[in-house]
Amino acid sequence: MIEIFIKAGHAHKQRDDAVVLPLLEGRKLTESGKALQEATGKALPSFLRKFDLSGSFGDSRMLYDVDGTFSQRVMLVGAGDEKKLTLHKLRVLGATVARKLNKGGARDVSLYLPELAVRGASMAEKVQALAEGVWLGLYTFNRYKSKKDDNTRELRSLTMMLPSGRNLDEAQDAVARARAIAEGTNFARDLANEPGNVCTPEYLGNQAASLSHKHLKVTVMDKKAIEEAGFTALLAVNQGSAKEPRFIVLDYQGGKKNDAPVALVGKGLTFDAGGISIKPAAQMDEMKFDMCGSASVLGIFKAAIEMDLPLNLLGVIPATENLLGSAAYKPGDIISSYKGINIEVLNTDAEGRIILSDALAYAAERKPAEIIDFATLTGACVIALGAHATGLMGTGEEIKQGLKVSGDYTYDRVWELPMYEEYQEQIKSEIADIKNTGGREGGAITAACFLSRFVDDIPWAHLDIAGTAWNMKGSEISAKGGTGAGVRLVIDYLLRKSA
Ligand code: BES
Ligand code: MN
Ligand code: ZN
Repeated sequence: MIEIFIKAGHAHKQRDDAVVLPLLEGRKLTESGKALQEATGKALPSFLRKFDLSGSFGDSRMLYDVDGTFSQRVMLVGAGDEKKLTLHKLRVLGATVARKLNKGGARDVSLYLPELAVRGASMAEKVQALAEGVWLGLYTFNRYKSKKDDNTRELRSLTMMLPSGRNLDEAQDAVARARAIAEGTNFARDLANEPGNVCTPEYLGNQAASLSHKHLKVTVMDKKAIEEAGFTALLAVNQGSAKEPRFIVLDYQGGKKNDAPVALVGKGLTFDAGGISIKPAAQMDEMKFDMCGSASVLGIFKAAIEMDLPLNLLGVIPATENLLGSAAYKPGDIISSYKGINIEVLNTDAEGRIILSDALAYAAERKPAEIIDFATLTGACVIALGAHATGLMGTGEEIKQGLKVSGDYTYDRVWELPMYEEYQEQIKSEIADIKNTGGREGGAITAACFLSRFVDDIPWAHLDIAGTAWNMKGSEISAKGGTGAGVRLVIDYLLRKSA
């Protein structure tokens, strides 16, 4: 990741490859733009006229050799109507500007965007949003491109210019927070984007172990240890795979010794072919992303370590492939689970809830204060909410309320689906304790109903990230592929909890 510095100062005194100035709707300059305009003897307004820049949001123009400046370039970026600015719009501006600069020749640039006014937001919040945007927007996954882009003049450093020296310290902390969040998110994206032949259960275990730290203990159980522990539901799904499963446990001690942890559970299905209930061929490659729940959990732990989060966390990740083979589990099979609940398998493609049942039961047994799980669980959730909101369900009313607040604040958004008692009917089995499918109606909800049987009375929230965890078109702040959904959301939730 590039460097981001904080400074207070004036645009016309800056000796950089580029200075970036906001332009508001109606071609209005902000403070630093006006100062530059004076220092340059009104050179800037004539440029404005010449290039028909309107100031509409996201529009930008690079000006060269502006009289009176020491910088080679002045980049004007449209910020739209200042009254309509939000923290997320700053995040998007950060990403837009960084991506554009990265393609040009400027290496060290200064950014005069923190002076934009966002209703209700502090300087630190604005700086954090901008920095997140820069680091998230610049993310790419190109390790398998043997010929790298021959852009040798990529962006190297970016300095956020503050209107006064008063907020330097809090802005510095904000950049550190943004760095931890972006590193966690980009780590989750990397794990997501790795193909299924690389990102195997064993690989997930190694990646988890690589996070080990003085406050973090990582335990990776192999197949033998999983058999001994009795995670039989995970083993059933693993039967069709030639690769061993893993059961990963992370214990992070950032809080007081005896405080109950927040448990984070993530689906680590490294490739989901559907099993004997095989999926159609079209876009099946995307099922390498079926481990995005585990990627979010690992990303959150990475960020937590980096920012010294003052809370205890428990992470639990069941990892396996869901493939076909002569040993694979079959529709009609009845399997046992760690909790002792017998599951009738009616569709081997509803495997996520099966492996999560063992992980949730184990997490609940550890008596955490609350449980949050992350899973690319159902196609039904994609149909219900599309790509713009994660499905939120569960029994923990306070957790859900907190996640809604954090979702709106971070723009890593969630939307609640109901879990009325009546939905539980759909997973009643004739010959076992429960069945693993509840039919097409309310599919995201009946999947959550299944999970609910394994969390005892621990307050619990379930995040169905099937629609949000990856994006084949890319977005304003994410490259094509894994998005790292859930990392910003839950880090913010945990930060508020610890405050
Ligand atoms: N990993 C899939 C869910 C999924 C599908 C995520 C498409 C993202 C995009 C999950 O394991 C699955 O296959 N679920 C089935 C459940 C059904 C058989 C009850 C589904 O949603 O179709
Ligand atoms: Mn499946
Ligand atoms: Zn799956």
